[in-house]
Amino acid sequence: MCGIVGYVGSKQAVEVVMEGLARLEYRGYDSAGVALVSDGELSTAKRAGKLVNLRNLLEEEAPPAGTLGMGHTRWATHGPPNDRNAHPHTDCSGSVAVIHNGIIENFATLRAELEERGHGLASDTDTETVAHLLEEELKGGIGLAEALRRVCRRLEGAFTLVAVHASDPELVVGARRNSPLVVGLGDGENFLASDVAAFIAHTRNAMELGQDQVVELRRDGVTVTDFDGKPAEVKEYHVDWDVSAAEKGGYDYFMLKEIAEQPRAVADTLLGRIGADGRLTLDEMRITDQELREVDKIIIVACGTSYHAGLIAKYAIEHWAGLPCEVELASEFRYRDPILSRTTLVIAISQSGETMDALMAVRHAREQRAKLLGICNVNGSTLPRECDGVLYTHAGPEIAVASTKAFLTQLVAVYLIALYIAQVRGTKWGDEVFAMIQLLERMPEKVEKVLETMEPVRALARSLADERSVLFLGRHVGFPVALEGALKLKELAYMHAEGFAAGELKHGPIALIEEGLPVIVVVPPRARDVLHDKIVSNIQEIRARGARTIVIAEEGDHSVDPYADTLISVPAVPTLLQPLVTTVPLQVFACELATAKGHDVDQPRNLAKSVTVE
Ligand code: M6R
Repeated sequence: MCGIVGYVGSKQAVEVVMEGLARLEYRGYDSAGVALVSDGELSTAKRAGKLVNLRNLLEEEAPPAGTLGMGHTRWATHGPPNDRNAHPHTDCSGSVAVIHNGIIENFATLRAELEERGHGLASDTDTETVAHLLEEELKGGIGLAEALRRVCRRLEGAFTLVAVHASDPELVVGARRNSPLVVGLGDGENFLASDVAAFIAHTRNAMELGQDQVVELRRDGVTVTDFDGKPAEVKEYHVDWDVSAAEKGGYDYFMLKEIAEQPRAVADTLLGRIGADGRLTLDEMRITDQELREVDKIIIVACGTSYHAGLIAKYAIEHWAGLPCEVELASEFRYRDPILSRTTLVIAISQSGETMDALMAVRHAREQRAKLLGICNVNGSTLPRECDGVLYTHAGPEIAVASTKAFLTQLVAVYLIALYIAQVRGTKWGDEVFAMIQLLERMPEKVEKVLETMEPVRALARSLADERSVLFLGRHVGFPVALEGALKLKELAYMHAEGFAAGELKHGPIALIEEGLPVIVVVPPRARDVLHDKIVSNIQEIRARGARTIVIAEEGDHSVDPYADTLISVPAVPTLLQPLVTTVPLQVFACELATAKGHDVDQPRNLAKSVTVE
């Protein structure tokens, strides 16, 4: 949830760290702070609120020149988001500074012990205990890295920790357990960060850190050990996107840019996965065809928008691959008793690959010996390492908190997996699979077409900015699309928004309908006649009760004209692929409505991009 940057090199650390924090602010924006070491002195600066508050503070009180530093953007877990609780936190002597992402579960016990031993703690955070524990360890005359290893062995929970000491202007140390931390390898300079975006302007060479590892970062080298001090094996990799991908590129918001990038993101996710003979090749997935033939059940685990992609996957997997498929909120999965075996394939979907609920669900499934497949957008993140196989989406960095292009690419990934299983298991005729793959290849152009016709949707959104509530209805794959539309509106516009399965209306939700209430209805293609006609009846039912009907239907579907107060047409595509085109107007709608209300759509209140705590 929080963003972390560490730097040692020859540049002014405060500039590098602030630049990195600006790129990581999407991870949390309750407060921000920096720690700098120079001339044997440690100085810190921190402020509640967005990064701009810290920037103003640094302008007022010029920070010391120095080439080593670290910085933090916070998403509050322990203690309110005020100056006092902002990171970095220091020990009693003000010599050690610590920043942290995650939750230290045994912090209350550790804090009580520290207070008993005479430490004065200045904040409400779990993080500050680490600074004081380091202080105690350092009194024994050991170095900062060894002190951190010893402290880590006493901590429970999930944490990324980075620490610096006044007496060492050449060393930044970091530790990682269940929370992201990557190393950027530069020339005469090195970086630590929650994600590569922080240092992408300086280097595209990165190093993945594993679980329970401590890294010592110096300008001329990096050493990694486990928590016991044994040298650890680490993997270096090259980041396949550059700094321009992490910038707004002329758009007012990252979200607008990311919505616009969707045709390319969909195309990139298909790239290299369809052979010259039209058959799918997913060798990179690292799960063999034989293993796929043995699968007798699929369970999908995910959170938020990724969960909605999972709900759509269920329809595709059951229809094409002919396998039973359950979809579960990752946060709920391990608290029931899911029935898993060696022949169960668990698919975890996560844009970031760092969502703690998804990781815990995967670990739970592993204990039950299920096969694990990840769908992930971030190379070097934790999820792919914890799964037997992975299918990467190629959305590029998604920086806006509200997921858009990642969702569309997750849909492409699940379609590819469902069709691949159909191909391997022979559950559909080869030419049927082939025809669907050809249609998939045309989806970037269909999404582009939707984007070209969004002006009326934007105007509609502006006209509804003062509404208190908007409902979303859908059936079949249109139901998860309705859920996704409602989630986008909630998180961006802070409005009451709810998605329903249209068939459930008469079982309760229809009581919500009142004069003028905007209801957005996703209509399936006409080719699905029974489904289509049923939802047209639902539209009539709500309209008869005063709802203002906003209907998303395929081009040329005139059957909805008499009942639609507003009609949004999307290109005609097969039912299962329809979410790729019907979701886009809902993203644009939410983004525009929230902007009309004056909200920052990239950084909605109370949220953070990746939820790395349970
Ligand atoms: O990184 P993940 O895909 O695991 O994230 C899951 C959710 O936290 C995420 O989709 C969230 O719901 C978004 N803010 C929705 O726009």
